[in-house]
Amino acid sequence: MSTKVMMPVPQTSGHPAKEVVPKDLISIQDLTPEEVAALMDMTAQIKARPADFRGALAGKQVVMFFEKPSLRTRLTFEAGVNSLGGHAIFVDQTQQRLGERETLADVAHNLERWVDCVILRTFAHSTITGIAEHASIPVINALSDLEHPCQALADFFTLEEKFDDITKVTLTYVGDGNNMAHSLMLTGAALGAKVRIAAPKGYEPLADVTKAAQKIAAETGGKITITNDPVAAVSGADAVYTDVWASMGQEAETEARAKIFAKFQVNEEMMSHAAKHALFMHCLPAHRGSEVTDAVIDSPQSVVFDQAENRLHVQKSILLMLLGGGLRRYRPRSVNV
Ligand code: CP
Ligand code: NVA
Repeated sequence: MSTKVMMPVPQTSGHPAKEVVPKDLISIQDLTPEEVAALMDMTAQIKARPADFRGALAGKQVVMFFEKPSLRTRLTFEAGVNSLGGHAIFVDQTQQRLGERETLADVAHNLERWVDCVILRTFAHSTITGIAEHASIPVINALSDLEHPCQALADFFTLEEKFDDITKVTLTYVGDGNNMAHSLMLTGAALGAKVRIAAPKGYEPLADVTKAAQKIAAETGGKITITNDPVAAVSGADAVYTDVWASMGQEAETEARAKIFAKFQVNEEMMSHAAKHALFMHCLPAHRGSEVTDAVIDSPQSVVFDQAENRLHVQKSILLMLLGGGLRRYRPRSVNV
């Protein structure tokens, strides 16, 4: 009997189908602007029709090594892999850093014999690139001191859901020029958005990441600006984003940073300078009362849990991109099965 159902089929024309699949997602710079856009597109399909992708990673094994704590990243990867029919193995690496017991090359050459993908949350970015250099299997950055690409992709997917045209959106990030700031600048640049970073003197994003993001933005029509003036940066913004002032591993600096960053708190007064419709964003975990007040993070403007939800959908898309045969633009069609 033939039943009419809706299911996704690869689109064969009208969009650039990638022949070369990116091997890893370590930095947003591993993706071309077209690949970032295609990832957004695929994420929308996965979010709308999760059942269509249920068996997409059947038989695939993914291992996750985390040197730092995690709620969102660990659970969204585990739930995402499971919902695609694959299997995730979590390794608590908080007691000893990768590369201490044996070389990164030896770890990589073991892993590639057993599993299909490695997901790493590390202190040093070089730990992730070190594994990727030697492993023939895909490597995903689940946060390093330099970047948090999965979060930034989920954040821009959230912005795309809320605003019609991302190229007209100004996102202002207020706070430390850290891993989040880096990945947001690079993702925004790839999608042609306007990203303003406001950080205290000495805490700006790294110059080479800013330069790279500005170069991408010059090609896409985006704009990346760095300033030390949070009020000017927030002025008229469509979304205001902040992150902790002391990232994981910087806890000893918490007190000193609290003084340096005091003027960068996102409170109601700060939000009043943004556009009336402005959203509040945070990658979480939040240090309420420090970088953001309860009144802002609990306000109707806040989309922090939408961002957290979208981690799941965007990471499923990333896994399909790296393990499922590359990027495809999917469009639901009516077919006979
Ligand atoms: N935003 C984020 O990465 O959260 P976790 O540290 O809980 O994974
Ligand atoms: N900048 C933060 C992000 C946490 C998701 C950190 O690295 O701790």
